[in-house]
Parts: sequence; C-alpha cells; structure tokens
Amino acid sequence: MRVDPPPASAAFSAIEERALGVLMPTYTRQPVALREGRGCVVRDVDGREYLDMVAGIAVNVLGHGHPAVLRAIEEQSRRLVHVSNLYYSEPQLEAAEKLVATAFPSRVFLANSGTEAVEGAIKLARKWGRLHRNGASTIVCARGAFHGRTMGALAATANRRYREPFEPLPRGFVHVAYDDVAAVEAAIDPGTVAILMEPIEGESGVTPMRDETLRGLRRLCDEHGLLLLLDEVQTGMGRTGRWWAHQHAGVVPDVMSVAKGIAGGLPMGAVLAGPRADCLEVGDHGSTFGGGPLACAVAAAVLDTIRADDLVLNAHRTGERLRDALLGLARGGAPIAEVRGRGLMLGVVLRDEIAPQVAAAALGRGLIVNAIGRSVLRLVPPLILTAGEADEAVRRLGLALEDVA
Ligand SMILES: Cc1ncc(COP(=O)(O)O)c(C=O)c1O
Repeated sequence: MRVDPPPASAAFSAIEERALGVLMPTYTRQPVALREGRGCVVRDVDGREYLDMVAGIAVNVLGHGHPAVLRAIEEQSRRLVHVSNLYYSEPQLEAAEKLVATAFPSRVFLANSGTEAVEGAIKLARKWGRLHRNGASTIVCARGAFHGRTMGALAATANRRYREPFEPLPRGFVHVAYDDVAAVEAAIDPGTVAILMEPIEGESGVTPMRDETLRGLRRLCDEHGLLLLLDEVQTGMGRTGRWWAHQHAGVVPDVMSVAKGIAGGLPMGAVLAGPRADCLEVGDHGSTFGGGPLACAVAAAVLDTIRADDLVLNAHRTGERLRDALLGLARGGAPIAEVRGRGLMLGVVLRDEIAPQVAAAALGRGLIVNAIGRSVLRLVPPLILTAGEADEAVRRLGLALEDVA
C-alpha cells in the first residue's frame, strides 16, 4: 500500500517560510520541524512523534532529555557557563581525565566541533613533521573521507562537491583508495608526515575499514616513522560496541579526533595525542570556547553515564539485534542488498537508488533515518536504544520500504 507523507501543516509551512527568509540555504532539510524529545523519541511542531534513529547524526548518545545531561547543565550553569583558557577550571580536567581513561595514554586539546578536532590533529602533525621529519608535511587521506568543513579539514575531505567552490585549499593532502594498505604505502614519500583516516567512513555511506587494514596502517606508520591520526568523530563514544572503533583492531593511534556525542548534544570536540605525538606548546593553538566549563561538565556526566549504564555493551548488543532484524527484512523481500557497519553505526544499502524517498516515507511512518547519497540509509541512534525500540524501528522501516517499492 502506498502512503503519502502527511501534508505540510500550517505551523510547519510558516517555519519553512521564515527559514527561507533568514537562514542561508546550506542544508537539504527534511520537511519536519522538531520541537522536543525524550529518550529515543522526538516530537514535531504538530505533535507527531518519531523514533529517532539519527540522533543529531550520532550526537545524542544518551538520547533526548537524559537526566544526567539535564542535571549537569543545571548544576554547572548555576556555577559558571564560560571562563577563558587563560585560567584553570575543574570541569576541563574532569572531562579530559575521563576521556583519556576510555582511550590511550594521551593529553588532550579541547575544541568545539569535529572539524576543529581534525584541524587540531592536522596542525599537530605539521608541527611534528617540522620537529621530527625534516619539515615533512603531507598527510595521506582516503577517497570517500569526510573530515569537516574548515579549510584544513576540507583539504583532507575527498568529496569534490564540498571542496571545489573553496579552492585553493591548503596543500599537502593526498587521497588514496580506502581500506587499502598497499595504496597508502605507495603514496608515502619523504614528504609524508602522517596518515589520517576514519575507521568507518560515515559520510561516504558507512563504509568500514577491515581491522587488518587498520593494523597495516599502524605498521606502516611504525616502519616509516609517521603519525597515525584517526578521525573517530563519528565512530567514537561507544557507538561501534567499543569506546573507540580502533579498539576492535587492537591498535593505538598517535592522535585521535573526537566530537559528536562527547557532550551529549552540546558542541564539543577534542584532540588526543599520545606521548610520541604530543608536541603542541604555549601559543601553538587555542580556542575561546574550547573546553568551556558547561560543555566539559556535561561531557564528564556523559562519559560517566555511558560507563555506569554499560552503554558500550548496549551499542554492541542492540546493534547486533538491529542488524539481524534488518537482514530479516531483506530475507522477507525488502530491497536491502547489504547491512554494514558496527554496533549502532549501520548503513542499510538498498538495491535501488531510493534512499531519499525511503527516508521521506519513513517520516510518514514515525521514523527518522538519514539517506546518504541515493542508496544508503544511515542508522546512528542513541546508545540507550532498547531492543524493543530497535524492533519497532525496523518494523516502521519495513513499512516505509513497502510505501516506496
Ligand atoms: C568523521 C567526521 N569527521 C569530522 C566531522 C566534522 O564534524 P563537525 O560537523 O562537528 O565539524 C564529521 C561530521 O559529520 C565526521 O563524520
């Protein structure tokens, strides 16, 4: 049965009209205006409810309105919302210590977003090249990579559509095939300082790197004296069933960029550097808002809650259940060619180029999923997703697929 999406309400149309007048049209937005949420459910301005399998694109790791997040916001905002990095503040230390405890021995630079976390990693690698590799500065990146929209991170990003309007971009980035150790090795020369990759490419369609490839990249870095920079902005914070996706492969990067879910929805990013790479000094880098006490207090609460509530394990278990149910849909005749990814970072590869239509139909069925390109649906729900919610999401997705087929 074909179900048309509900007609736009007067409330929604008014919002759309205002947005056209005042916001730069840089996003392709879905025809829905969200107003409030609890747990894994959000509600729009017309009171319609949706199961949120996008979570602000892997950001709302504790879902919406989690008591730990609300409490941290309330308590910290009563004390101090912002203070300059010219002074010390305890929430920064709390957040950094708890973050490092989930990862590898390292020190942290605190920033505000994913692109800044990548930008910081790039600057660090450049400085390290000056100090330790005769001024080598080239970073080997991957085709399909997405690292952000600021000029350095954009230079590391592969997508020409994002890059070309803004050229010339900073030099010193080469792109080779993803998940291919030989291609990386062939690109290494005396001017190379680092390899920068995502353990799972998110924006290119949830494309995983094999663990053996990641181990191969580590080996290359050790053999050639390079830094391994991992962009775990999307894969991190427990989403793949480990705190950090590289932990599946048993390797340790030199530098890791993190953001997205770290502060449960408040803007925050961080760069972690292990002892070999830790080379930034006074004056090398900075940020007015980076490491602000409010975001840091929330990050500390998020990290504590993920640990206390075993949400990394939940991401693994519920992710497996979600994958199995999606494969069940495929066996039942749904046009699903493949389900890829790990934990609660899954890409549903459709047999036809209908992902945008399916994402639109899903809204009509009370489900939020994200279309990447024309044939992949991305599911990156809150880590608190229950088994029942996973089953319900797949049931609604099945209906949306039938609507479009
Ligand atoms: C892997 C990766 N790196 C960097 C970024 C950029 O993050 P932000 O949008 O917070 O700047 C993203 C955003 O989607 C990402 O997925």
